[in-house]
Amino acid sequence: MGAMAGDAGLLLRLSRIFGPEVENYRETGMAANMVHPEVPEIFVVSNTPPALRQPPALPDPPLTAEGRLPVQFPHRRGWHTDQSYRRPPPDVSLFLGVLPAPQGQGQTLFADGTAAYDALPPAMQARIEGLDGLHVSSGHGRKRDAVLAGEVPKVLAPHQAPQRQPLVRLHPVTGRRALYLCEYGQMDWLEGPIAGLEPGPHGAGGALLTELMAHLTQPRFVYVHEWTEGDLVIWDNRCTIHAATWFDADRVRRIMWRTTVSGNPGPAYAGEAKSWIAA
Ligand SMILES: [Fe+2]
Repeated sequence: MGAMAGDAGLLLRLSRIFGPEVENYRETGMAANMVHPEVPEIFVVSNTPPALRQPPALPDPPLTAEGRLPVQFPHRRGWHTDQSYRRPPPDVSLFLGVLPAPQGQGQTLFADGTAAYDALPPAMQARIEGLDGLHVSSGHGRKRDAVLAGEVPKVLAPHQAPQRQPLVRLHPVTGRRALYLCEYGQMDWLEGPIAGLEPGPHGAGGALLTELMAHLTQPRFVYVHEWTEGDLVIWDNRCTIHAATWFDADRVRRIMWRTTVSGNPGPAYAGEAKSWIAA
């Protein structure tokens, strides 16, 4: 396993097994300090220089009443699926623990959108069929906290515009339905988060999103990955969501590498131009 950790070329070759397009982060405008210097298909998630990315805050309270790691929204925050603010969205992410946090910190949480969809009452399944979420990246003044704080939203270029994604995604390989949504930070809380429903933090769309997200992140649908150096976790963004957890960044150096693979989003996206490429 030790040989794997740090082998950027091998991670890229592995990534290509999962789809025709491995994102080149230099071409898609990622800040240079977050991109691997030799292999621009690798996004570096690290609190060490030059990336200097800090971990999420501890949940409040840090443990559940039973003394467990909190996973359920809204106690646990940060649940998302990668780059859902783009159309077509990516298929698969690969995440390599080059230098992970010690066990008990810096876990990655995954929630199973297929099982959670199947467990919804039929009336809720019928209610959300055909609805779209409105997804946007977090830096534009449209996330829930920014809207609640009355931040003035940034003027968006066309390639930054919020994107509609089905709340219920039909998986192109399995043919199964899965919940597909993010929470406060990666949805548009100005015009959404659900297209066609009353917008804003206090609207009907926000209430529905909150209800679905709490359902989807129940412990029975969640896997907690405790990292060991050299672990490679591969997930399907089309049918799972994930969240990062806190680690003690004052004492812990953490280096993780991620690649993102696209190319099979399903027939709903057939033939679409890439929303994030500036015309
Ligand atoms: Fe992510």
